[in-house]
Amino acid sequence: MQRMFAPVPPVPTPAPYVGGKRLLAKRLALRIAEIPHRTYVEPFVGMGGVFLRRSLKPECEVMNDANGDVACLFRILQRHFEAFCDMLKWQLTSREHFERLKSTPAESLTDLERAARFLYLQRISFGGKVGSRSFGTNHRVARFDVPRLVPILEQIHARLAGVWIEHLDFEAVIRKWDHPDTLFYLDPPYWACEHYYVASLFGPADHARLAACLRGVNGRWIMSMNDVPEIRALYPDARIETTDLTYSVGSTSPKSVSEIIVSGG
Ligand SMILES: C[S@@+](CC[C@H](N)C(=O)[O-])C[C@H]1O[C@@H](n2cnc3c(N)ncnc32)[C@H](O)[C@@H]1O
Repeated sequence: MQRMFAPVPPVPTPAPYVGGKRLLAKRLALRIAEIPHRTYVEPFVGMGGVFLRRSLKPECEVMNDANGDVACLFRILQRHFEAFCDMLKWQLTSREHFERLKSTPAESLTDLERAARFLYLQRISFGGKVGSRSFGTNHRVARFDVPRLVPILEQIHARLAGVWIEHLDFEAVIRKWDHPDTLFYLDPPYWACEHYYVASLFGPADHARLAACLRGVNGRWIMSMNDVPEIRALYPDARIETTDLTYSVGSTSPKSVSEIIVSGG
């Protein structure tokens, strides 16, 4: 298959996200660009730490997340950008506002309000947490500084032109977009970190469900994951590359972790 990539400017993510691929993104983007594909699919896109940082794109791109807040935010940024920016002007970085929005059920809001709520909570939360958010403060500029934020959102808006945005379980999106010319980049919740996200969407047993699903695909795939024997045991026939990374969240001391890039197809 002839390579069919177009250059594209890497753009920042809209907000910090626990498990965002800040340190691994460049390496993953290089690996992705080495594999010929016409369709690129991210079944677990989160805040797009890899999706948005790539500098080459194929004809067809798909982002997906089972968290409705994620899909809503990207759809709003893609289709209702101006109205969204107008709404954000009314947001303030205060603990009181944070707590009020946190306790507002997303389902009670319009899509515009829901996207603004999610962006606000994600930018303010300590460590970009999703499952258990707390108000994060540091000694730098407030994270919800709208004049600084709008140019970032504008870049994301431009980058999302023509992207398919799905809101499905990973298995459904993999089956829907599977083809010999498809490349899936998978970044599921890490082993024993499933509770960092909406717990009902992905539990410990879903790692085996994902491995079984990937065994049957016609396309190719790359997955990032923490290096634990339980995951290695699920992928006996895959290629596994080990990488050592150092992470720090807030003021906690840096922690070294071993991650793996698993690939197949
Ligand atoms: C490790 S995070 C992805 C981080 C992303 N790569 C980034 O840079 O921001 C995992 C994501 O998988 C999503 N997720 C959890 N269960 C899912 C499921 N069953 N199907 C699809 N997405 C799911 C979560 O909502 C979360 O956004």
